Amino acid sequence: MSNRRKFITKLAGLTGAVTLSSYFQSLQGQSLLASLDEARNRPLEDLVQDETFWYQVKQAYTVSPALLNLNNGGVSPQPLVVQEAVERYNRLSNEAPSYYMWRILDQGREPLRERLADLAGVSPDELAINRNSSEALETIIFGLRLKPGDEVVLTKQDYPNMINAWKQREHRDGIVLKWISFDFPIENEEEIVKKYAEAFTEKTRIAHVTHMINWNGQIMPARAIAREAHKRGIEVLVDAAHTFAHLDYKIPDLECDYWGTSLHKWLCAPFGSGLLYVKKEKIAELYPLFAAGEPESPDIRKFENLGTRSFAIEQGIGQAIDFHLMIGPARKQARLQYLKNYWVEQAVRNPKVKVNTSLDPRYGCAIASLAVEGKTPNEVSDWLFRNHKIHTVAITWENIVGVRVTPNVYTTTNDLDRLVRAIAEMMA
Ligand SMILES: Cc1ncc(COP(=O)(O)O)c(C=O)c1O
Repeated sequence: MSNRRKFITKLAGLTGAVTLSSYFQSLQGQSLLASLDEARNRPLEDLVQDETFWYQVKQAYTVSPALLNLNNGGVSPQPLVVQEAVERYNRLSNEAPSYYMWRILDQGREPLRERLADLAGVSPDELAINRNSSEALETIIFGLRLKPGDEVVLTKQDYPNMINAWKQREHRDGIVLKWISFDFPIENEEEIVKKYAEAFTEKTRIAHVTHMINWNGQIMPARAIAREAHKRGIEVLVDAAHTFAHLDYKIPDLECDYWGTSLHKWLCAPFGSGLLYVKKEKIAELYPLFAAGEPESPDIRKFENLGTRSFAIEQGIGQAIDFHLMIGPARKQARLQYLKNYWVEQAVRNPKVKVNTSLDPRYGCAIASLAVEGKTPNEVSDWLFRNHKIHTVAITWENIVGVRVTPNVYTTTNDLDRLVRAIAEMMA
């Protein structure tokens, strides 16, 4: 058997997506598989710049050619194989919902948990599958046993849902929020860690760390903060909404106690899919957000009493994992980094254009914040859409003011050339 046939056969064995999906039976799908096969022997630096390869990846999506979507930070589109799977499972569910969802599709949850655990580098017994980061992180925030006067260190640049959850606990339970604030971008790990450390007191119980700041894409040194916190017996919660399947890492690399993400962001899984991680020995102590029969159980599944929800969405996560592994986590991160730097380096040649995000892969990846002298973020974002149908998002949050530009693996350098030309035209 040729190498290519072997590769495809192996993939077919591995993934339902390949055997069932009409996409992989199409010429486009076959040529992507062939290119992925060849890519195994190619250096990363070479592959990240190969537009033909990434153009083939783009064909696996169904994105509109009518507009250029550069707001993949909000939510990402799903590759066709994921959409097809969700539609299949949904049709099946509709044949007899309580039978097909609760007796058939439900049997896929444990295998899915194992696959997610492999991807995340933890035990399946530490992962609960849910609907998004907000649900995962609020499960932690509201489930922790905190007393009046207990302190939580968080930043002004964290995500509003999480800030609101902490404020609600402050209001209801009398915990104390200790705020720190950063002037991003920062390319100095120690400076960030020091600010957290200075806010820690004897009463601090939790450090809240947003792994990647959604407003401008700053990567926070989660592990270094966790080490500093653990020295003082402080637990660490990581908001990983933007890093799972974006940066190539495993949860234990962060050395945190609690972690949550949305799978509909960078994993390109079905809309409304998320993941909660709780370190094994912390599960029993954490109350579930939706009550469970045994709230103090050490079984992670106690966090999955969500009531009736779409099992088609949950099971479609499996095809998203397949697709992500096919592209390859390291390749994906490298390509996203390349794309960000590609447009930023050209755009900032105009001295009136600033990008408030690091180009250093230790401190940023796909997301960047564009600021244009003399124009508000709304003016820039509206202008880009009105004149060039380029979809971005205007951001004004605390001290972060800019237009967030976020490509994804289906974005090509041609697309980014359009952005760069549009910015130049706007400046002229
Ligand atoms: C840093 C951060 N945390 C949490 C969330 C919430 O994600 P979701 O709306 O999927 O719950 C977001 C969403 O953009 C985010 O950027």
